[in-house]
Amino acid sequence: MNTLKIAIQKSGRLSEDSLKLIKECGIKFSNGKGKLKAVADNFPLEFLFLRDDDIPGYVEDGVADLGIVGENVLVEYEKNVKLVKKLGFSKCRLSIGVDRNWDYKNIKELDGKSIATSYPKILGNYLKQNNINAEIHEISGSVEIAPSIGLADAVCDIVSSGSTLLSNGLKEADVIMRSEAVLVSGNNLSAEQEKILNQLLFRMEAVQAGKN
Ligand code: PRP
Ligand code: ZN
Ligand code: MG
Repeated sequence: MNTLKIAIQKSGRLSEDSLKLIKECGIKFSNGKGKLKAVADNFPLEFLFLRDDDIPGYVEDGVADLGIVGENVLVEYEKNVKLVKKLGFSKCRLSIGVDRNWDYKNIKELDGKSIATSYPKILGNYLKQNNINAEIHEISGSVEIAPSIGLADAVCDIVSSGSTLLSNGLKEADVIMRSEAVLVSGNNLSAEQEKILNQLLFRMEAVQAGKN
């Protein structure tokens, strides 16, 4: 196929920045409200608007050829995809959040505690490296509510502005990993698709150069 399908987050922190990059690359498309697919008018690119957590899997399976996701999602889901380029936007941290009144000094305090997260693999590895025995409660959203409803002692979730933690009476206690948006590709692009990808990368690099 002489076109590339790129998966972009449907809504959330990444989606706006991802679309801005596409626009700055001079690529035009119109997407009707709520439409989950679109085709570019002036570049051989098709868009799929998906949940970010599903994007690495769709790229691995070849449903999409490219994807824009946070490194945090890429590392958590361990799919067989290629990291093509770090994009430098949507920077955030995957952090431990605890009650703002907890006099938290270091990760050792989580020993014997329970932690709610959507990132059980990354958190599990981190706890193991630090020899901490904590119970991981995997939940897929609204993680920050967990301590106040007695579901867990702490959370491990994405922090960007910090306002979600703040509005739930929590504070950022430890940073587990830093993350930003990355472009990923599948491992089976045709020669023609590699050419299109190179044209796209050329444009992305020109956009980045213009910002430095
Ligand atoms: C993260 C996290 C919080 C929010 C934190 O969600 O789960 O909800 O962002 O941002 P803040 O510090 O600026 O308040 P994410 O964007 O990863 O979306 P998702 O959980 O729906 O995938
Ligand atoms: Zn997500
Ligand atoms: Mg979230």
